[in-house]
Amino acid sequence: MKAPASPIVIAIDGTSASGKSTNARLVAKALNFVYVDTGAMYRTLAWYCLKKRVDINDAKAVADLCRRWKTKLICSDGQARLLVDGYCPESEIRTTETSAAVPHVAAVPKVRAWMKRTQRACLQFGSLVMEGRDIGTNVFPETDYKFYLDASLEERTRRRVADGVRENLAARDERDSQRAAAPLMIPLGAVIVNNSGQTPEETSAFILAEIHRRQQARRDRLGPRLNAEAT
Ligand code: DC
Repeated sequence: MKAPASPIVIAIDGTSASGKSTNARLVAKALNFVYVDTGAMYRTLAWYCLKKRVDINDAKAVADLCRRWKTKLICSDGQARLLVDGYCPESEIRTTETSAAVPHVAAVPKVRAWMKRTQRACLQFGSLVMEGRDIGTNVFPETDYKFYLDASLEERTRRRVADGVRENLAARDERDSQRAAAPLMIPLGAVIVNNSGQTPEETSAFILAEIHRRQQARRDRLGPRLNAEAT
């Protein structure tokens, strides 16, 4: 795809282990857009709270740490990342301990406001494929390209176990959906993709076809002004 005249955002939301990361990466690669894993941003803050021994159940302490947090948003290898003290944590943010801590951190309204600002700032890197829980509802509600991924609980649990992580996905989904601040929900206008039994190639091909269909519909609606966005 030729670079669009102004950056566009593909929002991919969904439940835990619904294939958001795998598919968002495939779609970003196919379109040559920057990939943004917003779950990794929340995980990075949760990891940092544990590292600094901040009580993750103390919302004020978590918000204070976030406010004082010296971190830098960078783009490397086609992915936006948070640099913490000159370092991008990877395996540390995927541990069972961090996975258990992250919903508490993600429920703090001041943390979510910080994340929203930082995630919107990713536009400086160009067009984005951004995955998370509130991208289509809260971070980029204005985008025309919204997807909501889901799969059966059994299949999602199998995927997590294959990744070497044991966690109660139903409980995490419940917490993500019930929290007061930007809960997980299906964005208005989103294409719902239940990918149980599908390969990532099948799911990402479906998403790409839908993006192209929506772009064509947008061009038909808005006319030649949008030719710069031609595929
Ligand atoms: O996608 P993930 O499992 O890496 O997400 C980690 C946690 O962060 C999950 O409990 C939900 C939360 N999260 C969120 O609240 N909003 C986002 N945009 C992304 C993740």
